[in-house]
Amino acid sequence: MDKKQVAIIGAGISGLVACKYCLSKGFEPVVFESESDIGGVWAKTIKTTRLQQPKTQYQFSDFPWPSTVTDVFPTQKQIHDYLHSYAKHFDLAPYIKLHSKVKGISYDGPWSEKWSLWNGTVEAFPPQGKWNVAVENLQSSTTQVYTVDFVIVCLGRFKDVPNIPEFPKGKGPEVFQGQAIHSMKYAAMDNDKAAEFVKGKKVVIIGFGKTGLDIARECASVNGPEIPCTVVYRRDHWKLPDWHPWGLSLAYLYFNRFSELLVHKPGEGLLLSLIATLLSPLGWGVSKFVESHINKKYPFAKFDMVPKQSFSKDTYSCMISYMPNPDTFFDALEKGSIKMKKSPSYSFYEKGILIDEDKTKIEADIVIFATGFKGVEKLKNIFEQSTFGHFITGSPRVPLYRECIHPRIPQLAIIGFSESFSNIHTSDMRAKWVTALLEGAFKLPSVNEMQKDIERWDEYMKQSSGEYHHRSSIGALEIWYYDQLCKDMGMNPRRKNGPWADLFEPYGPIDYATNSTQYSSILEFPNNQIYLPMGIHSSGISETVISPTKKIVGSSLVIRQK
Ligand SMILES: Cc1cc2nc3c(=O)[nH]c(=O)nc-3n(C[C@H](O)[C@H](O)[C@H](O)COP(=O)(O)OP(=O)(O)OC[C@H]3O[C@@H](n4cnc5c(N)ncnc54)[C@H](O)[C@@H]3O)c2cc1C
Ligand SMILES: NC(=O)c1ccc[n+]([C@@H]2O[C@H](COP(=O)([O-])OP(=O)(O)OC[C@H]3O[C@@H](n4cnc5c(N)ncnc54)[C@H](OP(=O)(O)O)[C@@H]3O)[C@@H](O)[C@H]2O)c1
Repeated sequence: MDKKQVAIIGAGISGLVACKYCLSKGFEPVVFESESDIGGVWAKTIKTTRLQQPKTQYQFSDFPWPSTVTDVFPTQKQIHDYLHSYAKHFDLAPYIKLHSKVKGISYDGPWSEKWSLWNGTVEAFPPQGKWNVAVENLQSSTTQVYTVDFVIVCLGRFKDVPNIPEFPKGKGPEVFQGQAIHSMKYAAMDNDKAAEFVKGKKVVIIGFGKTGLDIARECASVNGPEIPCTVVYRRDHWKLPDWHPWGLSLAYLYFNRFSELLVHKPGEGLLLSLIATLLSPLGWGVSKFVESHINKKYPFAKFDMVPKQSFSKDTYSCMISYMPNPDTFFDALEKGSIKMKKSPSYSFYEKGILIDEDKTKIEADIVIFATGFKGVEKLKNIFEQSTFGHFITGSPRVPLYRECIHPRIPQLAIIGFSESFSNIHTSDMRAKWVTALLEGAFKLPSVNEMQKDIERWDEYMKQSSGEYHHRSSIGALEIWYYDQLCKDMGMNPRRKNGPWADLFEPYGPIDYATNSTQYSSILEFPNNQIYLPMGIHSSGISETVISPTKKIVGSSLVIRQK
């Protein structure tokens, strides 16, 4: 029988892991990546970006970090190298087409909004349906259409389409005499160029997520207190100085089954609901415990930066940032190299930013919008049929069953659109689940049941993440979420040795490894550095190159010139 062809859009973490599982299940993947390199957001970040969680939490389940990476929080380069070695190890390069931008995807086959089953038949590959994937080769400026049996969309949430706030006419960047850019452009600059760009300039940064924080730090280190930068922002969020509040691992407080007992869950039964209610004072206590640690380490109160919401709420919505102590940020605030201005609204005037509330004027040569991305727009626009696009944006958050399948979009899955504390692990689990679905290991329930389940998660996210519910964070319930994926796949969700460990030990990616033999091979980094995982020794030089010219091996994809 012919191999089923699966188009994967994007070669970031989600696309790579989807490709790997497609291959292992006998499908024929082709990955389209618009950039010249794999890695997605990790291909280029601003200079100081590192992993925000310990690397043991941010790794593929079947491909641990090499022992040569001793940093607990690896740098962007180390992460990028790790992704290259993953691609090399699983021989993904022949399936990846770089410089290949998907312009749009169009469904060709019978479809009805009234279907009570996904794809009409609940089969992943119904006999007549195909997707046409229009791909522009950015080097040759030619477009080809690939006809495939299934599409996995992995185009990422925090890249490509900037979120630039809208302003009333005459109050936006158009009246500003300086330069206004999005952080995306700053991040794309060479590190030296980025430093040169802000050197000697009055910089205003809008937004105080992790990107705003990092850019402020960089500006402060280049310009010092002589030319301070100003961060204009709306809300405070908790910044974590370390992962051991008062000496206790945060993983024991938030990333084990016991901690999840403190949280009301979508679809929970009476017993779990009762336990969560009874334990809610403990949940409050845990949050206060961590907050007291943070407030001891960092002078949030002195700078009027104590968040209004609890640490737990920021954790549930994945809105905390890791700012390792000691950190230059508060030094820079003390010295006056960074100034903070909290305000719900602001506008531009010719010479800078005007704070609407108190009419403060902040002069600027450069304004950098660190205001995040419009990932949902990007996702919506990939669909040529507006009905499908509307399904994506028709509700406050992208409504996906198991955060992967839209019940009414046929033969298509989406990976990487809901946030977690370890996005690599979550994408790994989702790719495993999606490909198990494709190989027929389980069937999806009816459209109606899937919609009900999505609604239950909606309710949960509204309650746990409030105004950030559109980010679809599974932050507080990762294990509960993975349990459901495991049960669907027929995989035991209990991954620990014994009930005590299962209840109290933190869960991580390696707990979900399904093929331990993969650990025994040699892993390579692209900079000719060779390493062996977990204490194996060898010598030699090798190279990983993801070549834009490599062809898909054994491909029988239908290609039409557009
Ligand atoms: C600076 C930064 C740091 C981060 N740090 C952390 C962290 O420490 N921990 C954590 O858990 N998460 C972190 N994240 C979140 C991060 O987004 C995920 O961890 C993960 O890397 C996302 O991978 P992805 O493959 O889903 O998306 P992406 O990495 O965004 O990859 C998507 C890929 O799709 C490609 N693409 C998009 N559109 C098209 C198209 N039309 N045609 C072809 N290709 C296309 C893009 O070029 C890109 O390569 C960070 C995000 C950013 C921006
Ligand atoms: N590993 C790392 O070191 C690292 C580095 C950078 C980014 N990241 C990750 O990458 C992802 C994106 O981060 P990000 O900081 O670029 O984006 P983000 O998390 O979406 O944060 C955007 C920020 O902009 C603010 N904002 C949005 N719209 C605004 C508006 N109209 N006016 C004023 N402010 C506005 C938000 O404020 P409110 O909070 O008030 O909504 C928020 O502070 C996150 O997951 C982050 O953790 C990680």
